[in-house]
Amino acid sequence: MNLCIENIGQLVTVAAQGKRVKIGTEMRELHIHTNASLLIENGIITGIGGMELKAPDGMDVIDAEGKVVLPGFVDSHTHLVFAGSRENEFALRAEGKSYQQIAETGGGILSTMQATRDATKRDLYKSGERRLNEMLRNGTTTVEIKSGYGLSPEAEMKILEVISDLKRDHFVTIVATFLGAHAFPPEYAENKQSYVERICDYMLPYVAEKKLAMFVDVFCEKGYFDLKMTEQIILEAKRLGVIPKLHADQLSAMGATELGAKHHAISVDHLEQTNEQGIAALKNSDTIATVLPGCSLFLNHSYAPARALIDAGIPLAVATDFNPGSQMCSSMQMMLTLACTQMRMTPEEAITAATLNGAAALGMSGSVGSIEIGKQADVVLYDAVDFRTIPYHYGINHARKIVKNGVLLDF
Ligand code: NIG
Ligand code: FE
Repeated sequence: MNLCIENIGQLVTVAAQGKRVKIGTEMRELHIHTNASLLIENGIITGIGGMELKAPDGMDVIDAEGKVVLPGFVDSHTHLVFAGSRENEFALRAEGKSYQQIAETGGGILSTMQATRDATKRDLYKSGERRLNEMLRNGTTTVEIKSGYGLSPEAEMKILEVISDLKRDHFVTIVATFLGAHAFPPEYAENKQSYVERICDYMLPYVAEKKLAMFVDVFCEKGYFDLKMTEQIILEAKRLGVIPKLHADQLSAMGATELGAKHHAISVDHLEQTNEQGIAALKNSDTIATVLPGCSLFLNHSYAPARALIDAGIPLAVATDFNPGSQMCSSMQMMLTLACTQMRMTPEEAITAATLNGAAALGMSGSVGSIEIGKQADVVLYDAVDFRTIPYHYGINHARKIVKNGVLLDF
């Protein structure tokens, strides 16, 4: 299908001009075209211009009525395939219990693990589909999804198969990450190292052979996977051609960021507790820092030092971390607001972090994350005349028309 979007008040392209990722002051350069038109042919962006760029005869036309168009958001960190929910923990936190205390007393990741093990593939698919529809309606067109609530070979593979079915069927572009190292399952509570061996000797080779995930992730944290276990998993994954990511410095700074940087993890995510050493390690690496401000809001934790990371020239992405325990909000528009109000990022930086840099954190910035000739036509029209309205007027969905792979969605 071919499509022309005319009369765009602000066409925010986030043009990368050949760069993989934007750093430092580049993050403020959104390359906005005013009074613009956009041509899309066969799912690809083929023309960007002023009002003189007219749709050829017979082409479908959308009148943007002077409003804002952005690239679809790239949510590069989610755990959206899970069963059950954890309102009980939410209420306990309101009474003063911490995330760690709740996990230690039988809640946390293991409670979602049990619900997910008990769920059928069909149930997981259906809830996953509903969550993806909601994200798409809110302007997210590419999503990374982690496994990690199965924690046994069978249950982890069940989740990865659901992700792969969603990837086949859903409009959203989906990328899978294997997070078998999310927590220790009860079967291995007394023998944690054997679970790491199970991941390395059995699960990872299976995931790599069946191409069930492009990335591997590890929750490298006190009480979860230590540095040695994390390194063992990273090395095995790399040997098998699976690219590492890490949950790093969420609850404590124990060297996870430094480890990720040393092994060229494509991204290290969370960073709420990252210190000078972590920043120094990232400065000398090609690893992207992915911050997850929704998690800080929901758990009432401190925010990642996004300002210091950007000012140090470290590439930075923003994602939701959507999951039932620490972050139950799938709106990237809301993440923009938190990035600006809580982490002192400018609206321009926040948008770059949620689009092009998110794409780079998935190794996909050559095809998505910006509006440029030759890229996938994932573009969203908002009911706003100034792009800054989106983070400013928060808590509502400003997205009105979603064009995914060049198709105007009606759902
Ligand atoms: O990214 N930190 C580890 N994993 C998730 C939380 C998982 C859960 O509580 O269910 C996170 O915050
Ligand atoms: Fe996470």
